[in-house]
Amino acid sequence: MSDNTMSINLKIWRQVGPDTPGGLQDYRMEGLDKNMSFLECLDLLNEDLIKKGEAAIEFDSDCREGICGTCGLNIQGVAHGPKAAVTTCEIRMRHFPDGGTVIVEPFRAAPLPVIKDLVVDRSSLERIMEAGGYVSTNVGSAPDSNAVPIPKQHADKAMDAASCIGCGACIAACPNASASLFLSAKVSQLSYLPQGHPERGKRALAMIAQMDKEGFGACSNHGECEAVCPKEVSIENIARMRREYFKGALSGA
Ligand code: FES
Repeated sequence: MSDNTMSINLKIWRQVGPDTPGGLQDYRMEGLDKNMSFLECLDLLNEDLIKKGEAAIEFDSDCREGICGTCGLNIQGVAHGPKAAVTTCEIRMRHFPDGGTVIVEPFRAAPLPVIKDLVVDRSSLERIMEAGGYVSTNVGSAPDSNAVPIPKQHADKAMDAASCIGCGACIAACPNASASLFLSAKVSQLSYLPQGHPERGKRALAMIAQMDKEGFGACSNHGECEAVCPKEVSIENIARMRREYFKGALSGA
């Protein structure tokens, strides 16, 4: 075997549907290019399975460059795998030991139920966004870019919060299955900008109420969410979300 290839033993969660029990199945892959992505390895495995007439392994992906937040696997028990600050699609085979065993499971959280194999239903996050993760504006031509001055410090903080790609890794890592980091990034992003101020009180109240309704747990400051976030969104945002919530509640929004 040349220096640039490797083998891997995969233990992959297979589950036919939401209401059927699942389990880990073993697959061995050999002659893999160390520089291929982990998802390309799964693509190759699926090609083999299809050739053999077996069902392909279902998993989500879209951009495959860490932008969209569609991918998301628990790899070796860690949301998005063992490498910090990357998404599942950015993991390369060289990040695993040659000949080692890799356990691959879906994100685990009750409000993100498994649909099939490694695919989970993340529509609960969409419903949280629908509850208040937006600004209401009048339609028309775009305003001049400098018409609303925004302090640089606030613009930077808003951009940092806006880097959340909504992948759900924070929820999968949280022992309470809390969506607080996700939600706080969305609330903070708009609270730093003047355009987000008119609806700020009712936004935090409505989004948190929806999070509770969806069955997500409460934040108890474990910090696991920040540790696995591929975009390194800070848990400072959770404190800001709480301030927004209390301001909204006290103002009767
Ligand atoms: S597929 Fe888009 S972030 Fe991974």
